[in-house]
Parts: sequence; structure tokens; C-alpha cells
Amino acid sequence: MHTNPIGVFDSGVGGLSVLREIRKLLPHENLLYVADSAHAPYGDKTKEFILERSTAIVDFFLNQHVKAIVVACNTATGAAVKELRPNYTLPMIAMEPAVKPASERTQTGIIGVLATSKTLSSNNFQVLFARFADQVKILPQACPGLVEQVECGDLASDKTRALIAQYVRPLMAQNVDFIVLGCTHYPFLAPVIQEIAGASIAVIDSGSAIARELKSRLEKTKILSDRHNPGSVQFWSSDETGKAKRVISQLWGTDVEVGNMPERVLA
Ligand code: DGL
Repeated sequence: MHTNPIGVFDSGVGGLSVLREIRKLLPHENLLYVADSAHAPYGDKTKEFILERSTAIVDFFLNQHVKAIVVACNTATGAAVKELRPNYTLPMIAMEPAVKPASERTQTGIIGVLATSKTLSSNNFQVLFARFADQVKILPQACPGLVEQVECGDLASDKTRALIAQYVRPLMAQNVDFIVLGCTHYPFLAPVIQEIAGASIAVIDSGSAIARELKSRLEKTKILSDRHNPGSVQFWSSDETGKAKRVISQLWGTDVEVGNMPERVLA
């Protein structure tokens, strides 16, 4: 069990921002990553559709004998994790936008949250919002179009910058000193977000916290890898256009092979 892989998935390539934190913290683990890019973005899909896709991917992982699953997608977390969890016994770690650390550290008492509209309207986010609403003012900002820019590997073009400015400037005007990235695609846009927001605003995400949570769950259940050599990383995508290999290699920072998802998971 110790050397069995960990499955990590997202609607597309965004979850790679979580995968890189897991890789950094747990270099001896074998990792499987699924990008459901043929169906991205999840943000404009129904809850039922996202649950169906998440179930198909989790079942794919189970066939690969994973020992734990990370739902590296805030949208799938909000739409599907509550329904998914009771059906499986293995550890399932899900996303939560970094509202807690931002609330604890803000000086202005005002924080912005960038996420998909589906995440912002989810019950999970409403509960998170309510938990901190008496301490800080939370400004949710939906960001249509940003996931698509990251899916094409377009991280800093004029079009991407203009979209980011459109979402970040209203938050700046309201005196936020923290911008929480509540979508796993957005850390790849963090350099431009930070450049537009300026040095007085901290831009944070929850990738490293999720990696720490995963480590602690593996320790508690005594299934942390006991290997000393580096673990492997394998990538799968539902997008068969060849774009997957290019964009995943770009975001992962090295040329990688990307497998096609089996037919039954593609549907
Ligand atoms: N990376 C996903 C998230 O964290 C993107 C959502 C989408 O596909 O719309 O929410």
C-alpha cells in the first residue's frame, strides 16, 4: 500500500499547481494526474455533470490502485465532493480557498477571492464565507475566461492581462490587502496578478496547505511512502488533440508524456 500511487485530478491543467506542491513536499510518492481538459471548464457545467465526471475519474484511479485522491479543483470540490466521499473509503483531500490565512493576516480587514462563479455560489463557499464574515469583509470576484486562458497555456498575453486587470482592479479600489486564488488554474497567473495588484497586496493560494493536509492524512493512516528514491509522475488527459502534452509540459516545466484517458472515462 505504501508505494501505491496518489491520484490527483482537475477539470484541466490547473491542478498541476497543487501537484507541484505535493511533489515538493512528498518527493518519494508516485503520483497520477488526470486533466479532464476535454470537459473544461467545469465552471459552466451542471452539478450533475461534474459529479458524473468526478466519479468516472475516481473509478479510473481506483483501477490504478491509488491509496489516496486529491480533488485539485475548487469547482469539483464544491459540486461533487460531499456526494463522492461516502462512496469511498480511501482518503480524499479536497480544496478550500485560503480565506482562513488571509483573514488572520489582513491589516485592512478586506480580502478578495478570485474563483469561478460555480465555486462562489457553492454551499462550501457560503459556509466558508459565513465562518469569517464577522471578522473580515470578503469580496468574491468571479473570473470568467481565466480558466480557458490557462488551458491554452496563455499566461501573460495582452488578452490575459486585460482579463486579469478587469477582475483585480475593482478589488484594489476597495482596499483589499489579500487576494485569495480560489481556483487551481490561477496560481499559473499569479505573476501577472501580483504585477497588477502591486507589492502591497499579498496573492495567496492553498496548494501548499493541501499538500500538507495530504501528508498528514497519509501519516495518520500509516500509508506514507517508505521509499528513498524519487517517485514517478504520470499524466493523463481526456483531450486528445495533442494540446494536452504541450500545455502540461509547459506548466510542469519539463517535457512530459501524456496518456489518453480510456474510452469509458472519456464519455
Ligand atoms: N481548476 C478548477 C478550479 O479550481 C477550474 C474550474 C473550472 O474548470 O471551471 O475551480
